[in-house]
Amino acid sequence: MQFADVVTSRRMVRAFDARPVPAQVLDRVLDLARRVPAAGNTQGLDLVVLEGAETARYWDASLTHERRASFPWPGLLDAPVLIIPVSSPAAYVERYGEDDKVRTGLGVSESEWTVPYWYVDSAFSAMIAMLAAVDEGLGALFFGQFEHEPAIKQALGIPEDRRPVGTIALGYAAEGQRPSASSTRPRRSFDDVVHRGGW
Ligand SMILES: Cc1cc2nc3c(=O)[nH]c(=O)nc-3n(C[C@H](O)[C@H](O)[C@H](O)COP(=O)(O)O)c2cc1C
Repeated sequence: MQFADVVTSRRMVRAFDARPVPAQVLDRVLDLARRVPAAGNTQGLDLVVLEGAETARYWDASLTHERRASFPWPGLLDAPVLIIPVSSPAAYVERYGEDDKVRTGLGVSESEWTVPYWYVDSAFSAMIAMLAAVDEGLGALFFGQFEHEPAIKQALGIPEDRRPVGTIALGYAAEGQRPSASSTRPRRSFDDVVHRGGW
């Protein structure tokens, strides 16, 4: 696909069919998702990947069987792959304490960071994963972990000091997507968004 077509055709997919994602296809997506820019070239990013039956460990930690019965997007649980971009705040603090970065003051602690680059870099990775998915004929949804983050981390053995930025469900889109209320909001126009020469 042309790059512009990949970007403009991407829409969040919230229901998947049961077809597994071939290993080579998934590896191509993951390989692109790790080739992202990184502040200070810190590379404090890891990707936790669950495939097939492994995804049950994620859902068991985040969606009780009671809530599951009334969950509005049951087809999301059919996603054959879940990718969790996990950031390491400590790696960024450490990197910015090195000689070439120490003058920034960001090597002191996480609280010095007005923009936490560990989330920025992980978000870049999530975006690349979603665009790579579209390029491979797949669909994807990025969604938040919210109050389930500690349970998900525990279930998947993610170290205590790491922060997942969210979860990407990935697979072949099922017929008949149910859009979320958010996704029906109209896109702001080019002229509304773009401020040439200043705000
Ligand atoms: C940071 C972030 C968090 C999101 N969280 C959720 C979520 O928890 N559940 C969901 O269904 N969609 C979620 N979305 C998807 C948005 O609702 C969606 O991107 C938006 O409505 C625009 O639709 P589109 O991406 O299909 O163009 C999230 C998107 C982003 C970027």
